[in-house]
Amino acid sequence: MKPFIAPLFHALVRHVTSHPTGFHVPGHHGGQALKQSKWKDKANDDIIDYFYKIMQIDVTELSSTDDLHHPEASIQEAQQLAAHTFGAEETYFLVGGSTSGNIALLLTVCEPDDIIIVQRNVHKSILNGLKLAGAKAVFLTPQVEPMSGLATIPTVLQVEEALVSYPEAKAVLLSNPNYYGMGVKLRPYVEAVHRKNKPILIDEAHGAHFGMHPSFPNAALSEGVDAVVQSAHKTLPTLTMGALLHIQGNRISRETLRQSLAMIQSSSPSFPILASMDISRAMIDTLGEDMFQKSLDSAAAFRKWLSEQQSDIIEMKTRNDGETELYFDPLRIVLHDKSGQRSGFELQKQLEQQGCFAEMADPRYVVLVLGIQTSLMDIRKLHLAIEKMSSAANRTLGEIVKPITPSVSVNLCSSISEPVSFARGEFKKETSERILLHEAEHHISAEMVTPYPPGIAILYPGEKIKAAMIEHITQLAFAGTKFQGAADPKMQTIAVYPK
Ligand SMILES: Cc1ncc(COP(=O)(O)O)c(C=O)c1O
Repeated sequence: MKPFIAPLFHALVRHVTSHPTGFHVPGHHGGQALKQSKWKDKANDDIIDYFYKIMQIDVTELSSTDDLHHPEASIQEAQQLAAHTFGAEETYFLVGGSTSGNIALLLTVCEPDDIIIVQRNVHKSILNGLKLAGAKAVFLTPQVEPMSGLATIPTVLQVEEALVSYPEAKAVLLSNPNYYGMGVKLRPYVEAVHRKNKPILIDEAHGAHFGMHPSFPNAALSEGVDAVVQSAHKTLPTLTMGALLHIQGNRISRETLRQSLAMIQSSSPSFPILASMDISRAMIDTLGEDMFQKSLDSAAAFRKWLSEQQSDIIEMKTRNDGETELYFDPLRIVLHDKSGQRSGFELQKQLEQQGCFAEMADPRYVVLVLGIQTSLMDIRKLHLAIEKMSSAANRTLGEIVKPITPSVSVNLCSSISEPVSFARGEFKKETSERILLHEAEHHISAEMVTPYPPGIAILYPGEKIKAAMIEHITQLAFAGTKFQGAADPKMQTIAVYPK
């Protein structure tokens, strides 16, 4: 077992325990501001103690602490140790979540009007990154796993075809795994993209723990991708907003990346967040795969228990016979009500009533994320909650959730879009107008049209509307599909820019 070494965290502790007199920001001065007697009389001691402890190591760039944007001491050492642990050539600590990593990567690989090949179902940080870069996206429609109705990733063939159609594309950006812990092996994608000597960038926000235990899927880095962004705060014991950006190879300019990160991240990054990444990495180095064993055992115990119940609440089922073989993160548990009587939102609410708080819900599923601390006691609490929820009194709540018809909504989408411009100012919001959908062919959409399920945007603002899309949206609306965020939920009209 390796000793616990966290250079950044240790530097902060050394600084604090030297009892420095600070004449610098932040304004709370190591939490001393909270300890002032005037205020102390008026506030609850517990609150003061909670914040005081965090604030003690919330310092600024000092010679004893280092500078994230120009690391030369403990931050540099902490990032180098992280690169070694995660298998990167270089690792950058992020204090703005994967959001900041995705945006920085897009600003690094794309100049205004450059084309980049992007999976259609991406997180909004990627869409915002495209906007900030003023890039054009060629969208690839993802596959949908037929039983669960959940979108995964486009096929390798789509990526290859897009690279042939758009040889000028600067990079390929994919998101893997999805929120439900489903993903694919990336090696064939890497080979296809590298054959054209382009970089492949991966949003692996949900997979910071990948590769750290034999039961976990491989990490994107070990599959050979050029850059990967991971929300350390989602699956490692890291403070919220702490994330990692890893780089390998020479297809991405490190200098441009550093400039992009400095542009979009605060010049006063949070030291507690940075130190929590140092600590997470040190825990992985010290404990190795043991760090995750308890949660894996808890997940296995829950699955065994659930499979022995007669409950309507079951784990998501998949057929996994698509073109690309899927893997599943064992620490994500995706539940639904097989009777269709309770939506994922309703299940989430009922779990909360029993004191169990899930990560997220959608119209069908509720997603539970197990952390390294998840114990058999926690699982027992979940058993009790599900037992209560399975009782007759709870079963009949909510409207019947419609069965999913995922393949319809994807097959009719063009699998490779024309380039969609995200240049800011290209379309002025004021010039948009709402017209009848069936008259919208050849107009440019001014809104995002996202049927759920499976939650993949059929149209992005700036995308040209084709006859097949109109037919597709009309069919879905006729079948009663919900459109996320649509101004006209029946989709008889659509906001467009003039032709
Ligand atoms: C796929 C994906 N990418 C990126 C992000 C953004 O991550 P963060 O919250 O760390 O900024 C999320 C957030 O949920 C996500 O689901």
